[in-house]
Amino acid sequence: MHNLMITGGAGFIGSNFVRYMLEKYPDYHVVVYDKLTYAGNLDNLKDVAERFADRYAFARGDICDASTVRETIRERNVDTIINFAAETHVDRSIMSPDAFIQTDVYGTYVLLEAARELGLERYHQVSTDEVYGHVPEGASQEADPVAPRSPYAASKASGDLMVNAYHVTYGLQVTISRGANNIGPYQYPEKVVPLFVTNAIDDLPLPLYGDGLQVRDYHYVLDHCEAIDLVLHEGKLGDIYNIGTGSEMRNVDMTHLILELLGKPETLIQPVRDRPGHDRRYALDVTKIRGLGWEPAHSCEDAIREAVRWYVENEWWWRPIKSGERYQEYYKRQYEGREVE
Ligand code: NAD
Ligand code: DAU
Repeated sequence: MHNLMITGGAGFIGSNFVRYMLEKYPDYHVVVYDKLTYAGNLDNLKDVAERFADRYAFARGDICDASTVRETIRERNVDTIINFAAETHVDRSIMSPDAFIQTDVYGTYVLLEAARELGLERYHQVSTDEVYGHVPEGASQEADPVAPRSPYAASKASGDLMVNAYHVTYGLQVTISRGANNIGPYQYPEKVVPLFVTNAIDDLPLPLYGDGLQVRDYHYVLDHCEAIDLVLHEGKLGDIYNIGTGSEMRNVDMTHLILELLGKPETLIQPVRDRPGHDRRYALDVTKIRGLGWEPAHSCEDAIREAVRWYVENEWWWRPIKSGERYQEYYKRQYEGREVE
């Protein structure tokens, strides 16, 4: 395992993972294969391209395009695929599910088929706790059935099932990880934490869905990267690994913490109509990944603190995104007229 193709490597978690792997393994080569959708951004990899010019390459392409995928694998002598490429925002999947089915389901199949035909050593699928659906009590274990409830979650669950099928049917050497809500550097400001932090910096309202009592496990992105690396090197083939801190935070508490860290007033909180089909709680049992010797270095609170600091220090990164026409249009469509008192 030396020549990695990291699909979706120009996105949030993917770009953090690329940097992490190149820093950690001086003999690894990485090609990032990415379509550069609205969420893909070469600014996320600017430093990587400079620091690792001899071991890093970028190929623009769609994971649904079988011939470009194969061409890149052959050209770069790829032995391992780590698939981060996906449509990832639940609210966008509610507005228009089509791209989610294309990329998260069909695109996953295209990668698996290329890995099988070209005899790749390993395939790792980056998945999500959302595939388990709403968890009213207890915590999801890897053997639990999937019960996705949003188009995004259903598309990711379908991808996971196909990965498992390629392992069972063709003996492809796969692993799957299911992560909790990641936060940290380079997260597109549509997801709640970067959205609330950047809005609060500008004294704009923070649109809190419903009663704000939904529960998430806000998890630091580099802890997630470390765990994926561990699964890649020490995970049992064919297995699934949950990744998260294993703790819980209510959205309303996450919001108050952000405001407190930035010294902003609570009057910025704007209650808005809830997300349809909103999963009120996710909770992961992380015993299995801990059994490989992994511990997250950050609690939810630490992760939020780190994220706030990064957005305060890196306005160069998020201001051009938020002031762009594409973002503004999305924001209007998503939030205009949604206020409730
Ligand atoms: P992101 O939206 O920030 O980035 C996705 C990347 O995939 C972008 O660079 C985009 O250009 C690329 N992409 C999209 N469609 C593509 C296609 N058809 N072909 C090639 N590239 C394409 O996503 P993220 O938050 O970094 O999530 C990465 C992965 O981790 C996803 O698979 C997601 O489901 C999973 N995940 C995310 C979280 C989270 O909290 N963000 C948690 C658990 C799992
Ligand atoms: O759990 C892992 C998943 O986390 C990933 O698989 C997804 O890719 C990622 O988008 C994320 O999904 P969520 O729906 O949990 O994340 P989001 O940041 O969109 O929302 C987090 C919580 O905050 C959720 O309860 C909805 C709420 N929320 C979100 C937004 C965007 C608000 O209250 N207001 C908002 O404006």
